[in-house]
Formats: sequence, structure tokens, C-alpha cells
Amino acid sequence: PDDVPIVVAIDGPAGSGKSSVSKAAAHRLGYAFLDTGAAYRAFAWFALSRGVDMSDADAVTGLLADFDYYIGTDPDDYVVQVGDMNVTDAIREPRVTAAVSSIAKVPAVREHLTNLFRRIARDVLKPGIVIEGRDITTVVAPGADARILLTASEEARMARRSLEISTQSAETVAEQLRSRDLADSKVVEFMSAADGVTTVDSTHLDFEQTIDAVIDVITTRTARN
Ligand code: DC
Repeated sequence: PDDVPIVVAIDGPAGSGKSSVSKAAAHRLGYAFLDTGAAYRAFAWFALSRGVDMSDADAVTGLLADFDYYIGTDPDDYVVQVGDMNVTDAIREPRVTAAVSSIAKVPAVREHLTNLFRRIARDVLKPGIVIEGRDITTVVAPGADARILLTASEEARMARRSLEISTQSAETVAEQLRSRDLADSKVVEFMSAADGVTTVDSTHLDFEQTIDAVIDVITTRTARN
């Protein structure tokens, strides 16, 4: 029926432009936007603030009960909160980026956040939602109306990330990106497209062209008539 929100699932590696492209596509379509990486980052921020040993899966799991988290789904007013702390910027700090893979590999954490994402998608008030992450096309929303893998060559991804993070050298950024992708890909497969998932390769596309390509896939896949 028409009142069920359209779900668009977008996965891809770090630096593929996923977040900004997904947010822009959601804005254009009048859809909600959910950055699931931000939720993993918020939980990593929370674990750091509690001084928990990140390699202790039981201790990390134990924090879930206290994790009071809010993520906005408005692509034009994007905010992430833990308790009453606004952590929108803090979750992008290098110390959080360095810690996030350790908590993301804990199964109880993935299950908890996956349930949260599904609830958010189900309750959304807009006609659709763009959900972006690493395991959205495969685990969180395998039945999504449109499923996209956004890729780009390693060089292109590294170049984009170092432009974003001007406080660190290009070498540091490249090294961190590589080791994070390696750690993350041991937990979920996001470097190749699962069955039925459309790949959009942005290596030779600029930002606007990438949004157009993504919107194209979405409109083709979601034509409900
Ligand atoms: O997209 P990002 O760089 O903000 O994601 C942060 C981390 O969260 C990333 O290193 C892997 C993890 N993540 C995940 O395991 N599953 C998701 N659906 C999204 C992110």
C-alpha cells in the first residue's frame, strides 16, 4: 500500500561519498535520511566516554542498556545525540574513528543497532527513507525497494577523505582508511554487490553526477504502478 514508506538501501566503503550523496538524494526526493555509521560512531563515542576497554566484548555489550541515543532523520537538519549531549561533530573525531571498528564487530551491538534502524525506518513519516551504511542492502533492509552499492577506486576515496580531514596528513588518512576498511570488511561484506544490488561507481563522477546516478536507480526501482 501507498502508506508504507519506500526504503532505499545504500552501502559502500569509507570515502565513497555515501553519506553526502545519500543525504542529498534524500533531500531531493523529500525522503528521510539515516546515517547508520553515525549510530556506530555515537556508540563508540559513548564507550570512550565511559572509559570501557574496546577489546572487551562483554564490557562493550554491557553498555548497550545505558545507550540513550537519538539520531535525526531530516536530511536538512542532521543531528546526533547521546543522552542530552549533541555529539554531531564529536563522532567525527579521529579517536572515535579509530575506535569504531572494535565496537562494530561485537554481534550484540550490531543486533541492537539493526533493530533500532528497522524501527526508525518503519516509523518514518515521510514517503520514503534513504538508509546508508555497510550492511543495509544485505542485513538491515535486504527487502528494500532500491538497493545500491556506491563504490569508487581506492585513490579517489583517499583523495576525497583527505580533503575532508584537513587536520591530518594525506598519508595518515590513507593508512587509517585502509586499516578501517580491512577491519570492517571482516565483519560485513561491502566491497562487492550482493544479488540484486545495483553498483554505482563514482570514480569518474563529480558530486552532482553521483547524486543523479543514484536518483536514477531509485526512480527506476521504485516506480510503483
Ligand atoms: O560510514 P562511517 O565511516 O561513518 O561508519 C563508521 C563505522 O561504523 C565503520 O567503520 C563501520 C561501522 N558501520 C558498520 O559496521 N555497519 C554499518 N551499517 C555502518 C557503519
